[in-house]
Amino acid sequence: MSEQQVFDVPAKVAERALINAAKYEQLYRQSVEDNVGFWREQGRRIDWIKPYTQVKDVDYTGEVRIRWYYDGTLNVAANCIDRHLPKRAGQTAIIWEGDDPSISKHITYQELSDHVGRFGNILRSKGVKKGDRVTIYMPMIPEAAYAMLACARIGAVHSIVFGGFSPDSLAGRIVDCDSRFIITADEGLRGGKKVPLKANVDAALKQCPGVTDVLVVRHTGGAVHMEAGRDHWLHEEAAKVGVDCKPEEMNAEDPLFILYTSGSTGKPKGVLHTTGGYLVYASFTHQYVFDYHEGDIYWCTADVGWVTGHSYIVYGPLANGATTLMFEGVPNYPDASRFWQVCDKHKVNIFYTAPTAIRALMREGEAPVQKCKLDSLRLLGSVGEPINPEAWLWYHRVVGRHRCPIVDTWWQTETGGILISPLPGATKLKPGSATRPLPGVMPEIVDANGKVLDGPCEGNLCIKDSWPGQMRTVYGDHKRFADTYFSTYPGKYFTGDGCRRDEDGYYWITGRVDDVINVSGHRMGTAEVESALVAHPKVAEAAVVGYPHDIKGQGIYAYVTLKSGEQPTEELRKELVQWVRKEIGPIASPDLIQWAPGLPKTRSGKIMRRILRKIAENEFGNLGDTSTLADPNVVNDLVDNRMNK
Ligand code: WT7
Repeated sequence: MSEQQVFDVPAKVAERALINAAKYEQLYRQSVEDNVGFWREQGRRIDWIKPYTQVKDVDYTGEVRIRWYYDGTLNVAANCIDRHLPKRAGQTAIIWEGDDPSISKHITYQELSDHVGRFGNILRSKGVKKGDRVTIYMPMIPEAAYAMLACARIGAVHSIVFGGFSPDSLAGRIVDCDSRFIITADEGLRGGKKVPLKANVDAALKQCPGVTDVLVVRHTGGAVHMEAGRDHWLHEEAAKVGVDCKPEEMNAEDPLFILYTSGSTGKPKGVLHTTGGYLVYASFTHQYVFDYHEGDIYWCTADVGWVTGHSYIVYGPLANGATTLMFEGVPNYPDASRFWQVCDKHKVNIFYTAPTAIRALMREGEAPVQKCKLDSLRLLGSVGEPINPEAWLWYHRVVGRHRCPIVDTWWQTETGGILISPLPGATKLKPGSATRPLPGVMPEIVDANGKVLDGPCEGNLCIKDSWPGQMRTVYGDHKRFADTYFSTYPGKYFTGDGCRRDEDGYYWITGRVDDVINVSGHRMGTAEVESALVAHPKVAEAAVVGYPHDIKGQGIYAYVTLKSGEQPTEELRKELVQWVRKEIGPIASPDLIQWAPGLPKTRSGKIMRRILRKIAENEFGNLGDTSTLADPNVVNDLVDNRMNK
């Protein structure tokens, strides 16, 4: 029923919008007919030191080559800061709202410039040079943004690791990209609870002999160990340097950052984004998808540890001279009204969050929302996973008061920015659909054999041609890049998502079709959780699948076979959950662990995950063909002992 509902563009929204329906159609047509011309024009939205003459050089076949604006030079920090100073030195660049509701601050563009300049000078004084990798492991404090921009300013490549990852996960990411410089804080603070960031770094560095320096922000003031010669306090170093820091001239294709993300196999991949195309694309999408106007207060609730934080807290908004809000805390602290109180307190106009947060807040009822005015809100956004129509309608009615369009933005770490999304002034909305591609984006739905499907259809989502924000390689492993994204359907970028297209040409993302699961908008490879489980001395074998979860979207369901002689007990179940938290981080905690005397395998020994997924989804009637199993009886046992049946 709700899928049939269509919401028109409110007249007020269309009137002031940068792009209305007619303009969208015109831009889209132009972007397909003259793709190079379209992006040549869009490239001018940022400042170049040496303007580009070449726009695009892309080959999705063979070794795969993607280059945009590749003879141009620029500096990202100069674009996000310096070029705004003549007009908006005194305008707020960042509003920071602390975990503690009584603490917030405003940082102007001039102050941002000074902080980033000092930060860049500290990095340079410690010998960090263009091209060096710097790992950032930080809470959501302004220094995280300063650190990113300081790296960009001096041409260092940042790799941010989400503060919820364990020391082991952090160490793996430090070693993979060979960072010798780490930026962290004493502790993080989330929902009143402390996160021992510096202690985690200390533990991680036992496995990282190449690290020479750790720069530490004093945030909570908690006691931390400082290793002489290696660890430095930011505030002490800042007192030694000035604010003038010359931006490094970077080629458009020089790396800007690495961000690790999970795939269906192996360890997390270092997704590499470069300088020119990424910034053009972050700016383009931030301006048009959020219909950003001068003076708007914009809030994206993501963490800078994820790509959403990179593109839509820091780079996109600051490239556009926006005021971006950065929130340290969580939606339900001190209570379930927090998001809405922050909206009222800072007069937020544009609010961008994840379906999992909406579903969790929905459960608290309407009262926490109703007690806030929310009259500054003009536009709502959603990102990270499919939003179920029920949550969409609640968000629209209770938070948006029927007045605010919702942009359901589909994209990925790999895409650098939003690819499929409504434009608020142009697109009629259907709850649960990411609607239509942005100008310059050419989605294709293919069947299992790679045949491109026409009209209304369902299949696997590919993108036919490049856009400037696309990742360029997997750090240190270009072959893995080509194999992962361009070999399944040769000549196309394969997203890993399933998708339906309806009779109006609207796209409905149905979720991952590979062994990647999406838990509360956090991406996880089932293989990673499995290898954490089998690393436990009592575990012989493990298979992990996703299952539908009311709040998280997907939960983590683990089938565990113990070594012979080991007893399945409640204590062991808890121990395994703790074990995975320690190995990967709290976001990877299994929700359900089922003891499996055996796993369903083919005669050649391959685990049949299709069957495990069905059991976890409680779809016993629909297990499909089990005749190729080596021992069909194991399935009956698994069905009989399904958790929470
Ligand atoms: C995967 C990418 C995009 C930044 C945050 C997640 C899923 C993301 C949507 C959406 C349906 C979505 C996809 C995608 N996804 N946004 N609006 N509707 N699904 O980035 O961690 O790289 O995950 O998230 O499955 O492939 P990520």
